[in-house]
Amino acid sequence: MQRIRIEDAGRHAGESVEIAGWLYNLRRSGKIAFPLLRDGTGIMQCVAVKSALPEELFETLRNLTQESSLILRGRIRAEQRAPGGYEMDVEGAEILQRVPESDPYPITPKEHGIEFLMDHRHLWLRSRRQHAVLRVRHEVIKGIRDYFDSHGFTLIDTPIFTPAACEGTTTLFEVNYFEDEKVFLTQSGQLYNEATAMAFGKVYCFGPTFRAEKSKTRRHLTEFWMVEPEMAYATLEDVKQAAEELIVFVIGRVLENRRRELETLERDVSRLEAVRAPFPRMSYDEAVALLKKKGSAIEWGGDFGGTDETLISEEFSSPVMVDRYPAAVKAFYFEPDPERPEVVLGVDILAPEGYGEIVGGGQRIHDLSLLLRRLEEHNLPRDAFNWYLDLRKFGSVPHGGFGMGVERFVAWMCGLEHIRETIAFPRMLYRTRP
Ligand code: 4AD
Ligand code: MG
Repeated sequence: MQRIRIEDAGRHAGESVEIAGWLYNLRRSGKIAFPLLRDGTGIMQCVAVKSALPEELFETLRNLTQESSLILRGRIRAEQRAPGGYEMDVEGAEILQRVPESDPYPITPKEHGIEFLMDHRHLWLRSRRQHAVLRVRHEVIKGIRDYFDSHGFTLIDTPIFTPAACEGTTTLFEVNYFEDEKVFLTQSGQLYNEATAMAFGKVYCFGPTFRAEKSKTRRHLTEFWMVEPEMAYATLEDVKQAAEELIVFVIGRVLENRRRELETLERDVSRLEAVRAPFPRMSYDEAVALLKKKGSAIEWGGDFGGTDETLISEEFSSPVMVDRYPAAVKAFYFEPDPERPEVVLGVDILAPEGYGEIVGGGQRIHDLSLLLRRLEEHNLPRDAFNWYLDLRKFGSVPHGGFGMGVERFVAWMCGLEHIRETIAFPRMLYRTRP
């Protein structure tokens, strides 16, 4: 008998097939049982009728426990009222492991607290909402890769053990390497990307990155995935354009391929459909003026807090680009604005609906003496940066790129309150297990 996946059931209407999965839930009466079977691609309501099955099998199914593993065989039938549009009339079954009543599956259909669910994350992933979120995540990652792969970028993965800070020294995780050597978990592949961009023109890296600030906000993970493109011969304007195109492309993919998951999440897709290029653009100065008008305590020179970002982004239905931040609030590598050296050619993109900064990037310093000065001002060890300085000695050109955090993007797509549900096993200030 052919084994099918639930998401493909529509192609097998009228056929007898088998589906291998787990019991998601069960409704029953004396003469009929409705096992809800999940197989990782979807959930199917199955119908087991007493009179149509051997007595023993019917009783086994009728008394099956949540999350028991089983293979169901039967005929697929179109059923408009069923969640996926199809049902299975059960003809046979094989139970692989029955979860005992004495030690039942801990996540029941009733409400559980978030700490309980996070402690059982290894099991929570099986539930409908979590499943939908991670399928959207997959689509986002695939969309990102497809975008760069079809726009002339070469994928070059950068190291995770690094000798120096990229985004600032206060937020590094230190690791004991061999002997007496210390290394850090990478905050960003950018510096290495700058080297590979000079070799390949347009590159991107895509991997886990680490931040050690003791932040407990709903947008912060200590380990998150970031995609970082970097382009030689590029200006701030090129960086903005690439980011805008990428975002529009990936939203398109999610809307195209993950409608069902967004529905499960009760996401208001009209908010995603409303996103249009060109995105609104404003300078840091304009953003500060807007914030003051809206009652924020921000002063020129300060960095935006989460609330400020929300205040700015709620003005727009598309992501908003804010550029030319004060040099003092940004990392050492940003190119100053030639017209106003106190601000830098960096851009942050703030997602609508209060999802905060999803992209940070800009144009890099390409002048050797300026870069040397900045390293000193930031108290960064020149030794660790010698190779990086070489890039300004041998064919230096204007260049730039950005980083986009996958989890913040997914939180936005899915309309999630907290970033912790956008990654299978989140790492946060007080959460390193399971
Ligand atoms: O703005 P960030 O720190 O920029 C960089 O790391 C640059 N070196 C990137 C580059 O230009 N190549 O981080 C970029 C993005 C943020 O906009 C956000 O989406 C995400 O990474 N991000 C986080 N996501 C989850 N948890 C955190 N703690 C994050 N920190 C940054
Ligand atoms: Mg940033």
